[in-house]
Amino acid sequence: MRIMAKLIALVKPLAGVMVLAILLGVLGNLCSIFIPVLGGLAILERAGAGAPLGLAFGSLIAAAVVCGALRGAFRYGEQTCNHFIAFKLLALIRERVFEALRRLCPAKLVGRERGNLVTIITGDIELLEVFYAHTVSPVAIALVVSVIMTAFVGLYHPLYALIAAAGYLTVGAALPAIASRAVKADNARLREDAGRFSSFYLDSLRGIAELLRSGAGERRRAQIGGKTDDTDAIRRRLNSREGALGALSGLAVTCFALITLTAAFFLRRAGYVDTAGAVIPVVAVYSSFGPVLALASLGAGIQSTLAAGGRVLGLLSETPQTKDVTDGVTPEFTGAHSDGLTFSYKNTGYARSPVPDDLVLRDLSVDIPRGKITGITGRSGSGKSTFLRLLMRFWDAPEGSLFISDAPVSAITTEHLRCIESFVTQDTELFHDTIEANIKLGRPDATRAEVEAAAKKASVHAFISSLPNGYDTQIGELGDTLSGGERQRVGLARAFLRDSPLLLLDEPTSNLDSLNEGIILKALRDSAGERTIVLVSHRASTMGIADRTYSVE
Ligand SMILES: Nc1ncnc2c1ncn2[C@@H]1O[C@H](COP(=O)(O)OP(=O)(O)OP(=O)(O)O)[C@@H](O)[C@H]1O
Ligand SMILES: [Mg+2]
Repeated sequence: MRIMAKLIALVKPLAGVMVLAILLGVLGNLCSIFIPVLGGLAILERAGAGAPLGLAFGSLIAAAVVCGALRGAFRYGEQTCNHFIAFKLLALIRERVFEALRRLCPAKLVGRERGNLVTIITGDIELLEVFYAHTVSPVAIALVVSVIMTAFVGLYHPLYALIAAAGYLTVGAALPAIASRAVKADNARLREDAGRFSSFYLDSLRGIAELLRSGAGERRRAQIGGKTDDTDAIRRRLNSREGALGALSGLAVTCFALITLTAAFFLRRAGYVDTAGAVIPVVAVYSSFGPVLALASLGAGIQSTLAAGGRVLGLLSETPQTKDVTDGVTPEFTGAHSDGLTFSYKNTGYARSPVPDDLVLRDLSVDIPRGKITGITGRSGSGKSTFLRLLMRFWDAPEGSLFISDAPVSAITTEHLRCIESFVTQDTELFHDTIEANIKLGRPDATRAEVEAAAKKASVHAFISSLPNGYDTQIGELGDTLSGGERQRVGLARAFLRDSPLLLLDEPTSNLDSLNEGIILKALRDSAGERTIVLVSHRASTMGIADRTYSVE
């Protein structure tokens, strides 16, 4: 109920369209119900039971034809409104999810399986279409139509109203409720399995070359097959339940029609109703189950829709590892330092092991003077990258231990912090765009000349110029053909172009030969003075340019 209320709350800006959809839906359903009712009246008139409402046979048939035509128009209008609402909302939700991810990343991407996120972003959001286009208004339509029809047959005799109301409640509420309880567990498992399966599949796809190289391809294929079989079994069970529900609903409709017929028989014999009063309500009741039957078929699906909605809402309301600071200080960069910095991932909710002595950094004091190159070395896993992430405030360092320009990192406005720092990691993410656009990522207004200057410093200009389309080459056209070193140099060019006062480099030369390394180190050396550099590396040759070197134990 809570999830449903939250999802419906999102419709608010489109409430007008929703009301229109419901109105058109009610009118459409009434049209289709009244086609047989009008037909019944026409037959009664021909049989000499009198002209109801004073309408002659011809007029009644004409009215039925008009109802038939209008039914189509109303249905069209209703569906158009519903899908308009659904896709507008999906767009809105996608935007919000992207916003949420931006708040939550990058800590989020470390913590949760990416495949699961992909399932939320694609599958779960898509499933909400069912909710907005085929759940909200049908429920309202069924409710309104049922009330109108109950009142209509009640005009002939109250007993009809009683039977009709019981029928609508059974088919539209009781049966779907029972059915949805029966499939709840299976549905939840199905969605979870789907999430895990995408993770596994994505993982396999990313590592396919590795799998083939190590001869594990066949085994992996079998594993994928096994997981599909599991899902398949659940799906089959769900389908058979759904079929059973359909059969039960059909049976219930027939039963209630028969009960109405029986009631009509006795009411007529006892003289409580005339001939029309014995025929029309039976026809009306039998033909009016359409809207509630639509609900019955929703019953099974609603659980998975709500489960999907729950996951999307959960992501939207998740609190980020670090909150963006909007009203903090915005100091000019004058250097950075840490003072007895102690850090563990374990209190952050993304920890991998809850061991109490899971400290990554203990008592780390580093001085990063402005305009100098500060080198950091240390064995693998000693926390060097962690230190850079803390400077970026991907995670929060404990209070009073990490400062930029003498202000605690957590007190600096996030946007300003991003302006001060550039961070180059070992793996450079390239986007499907031109090489120029990829380099200009952090400074979209840079000129071609500035881009080329940055590329020269990063020793990648010659390579880019050798491509047939030069800087306009689409990264996509190159596919995965860019070598590790080439990617890394594009990443460095990006950072050089951004020209922020503090440059954080995490193993920037790990994929480079000594010639390229030399060019880049020279560029770094030359730019020190105006720029402050923190350089993490295992290589002695790279460390050679540092003014001062720290070693993390
Ligand atoms: N998100 C995380 N959650 C929990 N532990 C983490 C997380 N990220 C890193 N760690 C752990 O923290 C420790 C330090 O990792 P870090 O990446 O900072 O090491 P590093 O010094 O950069 O190593 P390398 O030289 O191999 O790059 C490692 O033991 C690592 O397993
Ligand atoms: Mg590292």
